[in-house]
Amino acid sequence: GSIPVICIDGPSASGKGTVASAVAEQLGYHLLDSGALYRITGLAATRAGIPIDAEHASQIAALISQMDIQFGADQRVRLDGEDISLAIRSEEAGTNASLVSALPAVRQALVQAQHDFRQLPGLVADGRDMGTVIFPLAPLKVYLTASAAKRAERRHKQLIEKGIPATIADLRADLEARDTRDMNRATAPLHAAQDAFLLDNSEMSVDNAVAQVLSWWEKRQ
Ligand code: C5P
Repeated sequence: GSIPVICIDGPSASGKGTVASAVAEQLGYHLLDSGALYRITGLAATRAGIPIDAEHASQIAALISQMDIQFGADQRVRLDGEDISLAIRSEEAGTNASLVSALPAVRQALVQAQHDFRQLPGLVADGRDMGTVIFPLAPLKVYLTASAAKRAERRHKQLIEKGIPATIADLRADLEARDTRDMNRATAPLHAAQDAFLLDNSEMSVDNAVAQVLSWWEKRQ
């Protein structure tokens, strides 16, 4: 297939979501926020009262086949018709996402849904394993990072804007715990693909990070 995919992977709150959606908009491409799929799965498991552990992995994976997920053009996410956009953005939802995402059966159950996002004219995919596992042949892979201090600051700003209370210190501890789990799990651990371009945007504006990705993309074409 020749439908192009641009992968943007990296640790929590590194700016992937913001950069990916801006790049997708500039190019008129589709957008895959793969983290949202894990967040939704974590929420669905919690609501169903299923403990998030290895023993219940197949039960959670079975739940995935029954979920009706809709990503609206309005940036809203719906699960079985209910708008859960806000519910999946809490820190607790992030932690539950990280816990379900460590279960191989859950990752496997979400592969097809992620591949389905690859449609003309192209896709920008944001996550942890877009370039390493889901789209290994993608023509452009970017590994986006930022210092833990910057990431905690940015996440704090995002949450406050949404009216969700949080402290920078708690957020930083949370992010670091999540990174450690994401990098050390056995299945699809977070790491840069061998052929990824590294981009540390700690001291970079969103516009400059987007411009860098677009310039790499032009050179690849
Ligand atoms: O990117 P976001 O913070 O929304 O992702 C939530 C969690 O989902 C991450 O901490 C990670 O554990 C998991 N995830 C993953 N693979 C992806 C995207 C997210 O394991 N491709």
